[in-house]
Parts: sequence; structure tokens; C-alpha cells
Amino acid sequence: MIHAQLADGTDIVVRPVRPEDKPLLVAGMARLSDRSRRQRFLVSTDHLTRSQLAYLTEVDQRDHHAWGVLANGEPVAIGRLVRLDDDEGEVAITVLDDWQGRGIGEILVQHLAGLAREAGIKRLIFVSLPENVGIARLLARFEKISKTEDGLVTTTIETTSVAPPAFAAGVR
Ligand SMILES: CC(C)(COP(=O)(O)OP(=O)(O)OC[C@H]1O[C@@H](n2cnc3c(N)ncnc32)[C@H](O)[C@@H]1OP(=O)(O)O)[C@@H](O)C(=O)NCCC(=O)NCCS
Repeated sequence: MIHAQLADGTDIVVRPVRPEDKPLLVAGMARLSDRSRRQRFLVSTDHLTRSQLAYLTEVDQRDHHAWGVLANGEPVAIGRLVRLDDDEGEVAITVLDDWQGRGIGEILVQHLAGLAREAGIKRLIFVSLPENVGIARLLARFEKISKTEDGLVTTTIETTSVAPPAFAAGVR
């Protein structure tokens, strides 16, 4: 478990996702706007199926890392890194709408990049919709390569180009 602070002074906790977190994901999904759900899942989705919930929470934290962010004890974001092969891992991040634009996405990218480096993963892959301004702005902070194919944007970041999060010194 990691304690960190957002630029606005809000204290947050970043912790691994556990199988018993399923109700938190269901509640988070209900609070997420249609736009954010579509941006996260790339298609319109109004609820998570049992198998999706199992996939998203029953992770080995080795080839599939999933970390949740809590503020004031309430879950506000989740980020995951799924190994694709020896060198690459796909990242997906969801921040509740009220919490977007406050720096949580950047903290999660930095944290997941650190886990990727420890696992020998060299590149992070993000797949997004072309109209997703939030992820484009977030990833613009890193050295990246983007390509658009079949209506989806794939962005690749070298893990070595991502600075450790500010909390890294006191981590774990
Ligand atoms: C994309 C997302 C993960 C970014 O996380 P975040 O916590 O908002 O990111 P940060 O606060 O670190 O901000 C990163 C940048 O995105 C911008 N941003 C964040 N949300 C935004 C939004 N809804 N609209 C426009 N810009 C947005 C911020 O202003 C900031 O830009 P700046 O550096 O030019 O000021 C988050 O907006 C989100 O969960 N979106 C819905 C799901 C999604 O798109 N997931 C990505 C799939 S990989």
C-alpha cells in the first residue's frame, strides 16, 4: 500500500486490487459517465459481466498487475498492466469523472511503468479512441509513438522514459 498526495493536497492510497474488490468495481462503474466507460472499454458498456469482473479483480500481480486508488476511503481510480509478451505490456486506466484532471492518471502511469521495469517490460501500450483527449494529454507528457489503425489509436511509451512517481522513495 502506498500513500501519496495530489497537487491539490488530497491524500490518496494506491493499493493492489483484490478479488473481494468486485463490489467496488461495480459501484465505480455505476458512477462513471457513459463517455468515460466508452473511452475505457472502447465500446458502449453499461455494466461489467461476471467474467469481466473476475478478469479485472482476480489478478496474479505478476503478468497482470491491477492497482486501485482511494481518496477519503472511497475508490476513485484503477489502473492495470497486462503483459502482452516479453517486452510489452498493455496499460488501461480509469479515473472517475469527478477526479479526472487532478494528476491520478499520471501517478498510475508512473507506478505501472515502475512495475513494468521490475518485470523486464520495456514498452507500455495504450489503446484509445481518437476522440479521447484526456489520455492524449496525459501521454503527451512522455516520449511516445502513436499510430491510428482501424479507428483506434495505439500509443507506445518506453518504460525507461517514465520518471518514478514522487512517492517512490517510500514505496512498499
Ligand atoms: C484518461 C484518464 C485515464 C486520464 O487520467 P487523469 O487522472 O484525468 O489524468 P491527469 O490528471 O494526470 O491529467 C492528464 C491530462 O489529461 C487532461 N484530462 C484529464 N481528463 C480530461 C478530460 N475528461 N477531458 C479533457 N482533458 C482531460 C488533464 O487536463 C491533463 O492535461 P494537461 O496536462 O494538458 O493539463 C482519465 O481521464 C480517464 O479515466 N478517462 C476515462 C477512461 C479512459 O479514457 N481511460 C484510458 C484508456 S487507456
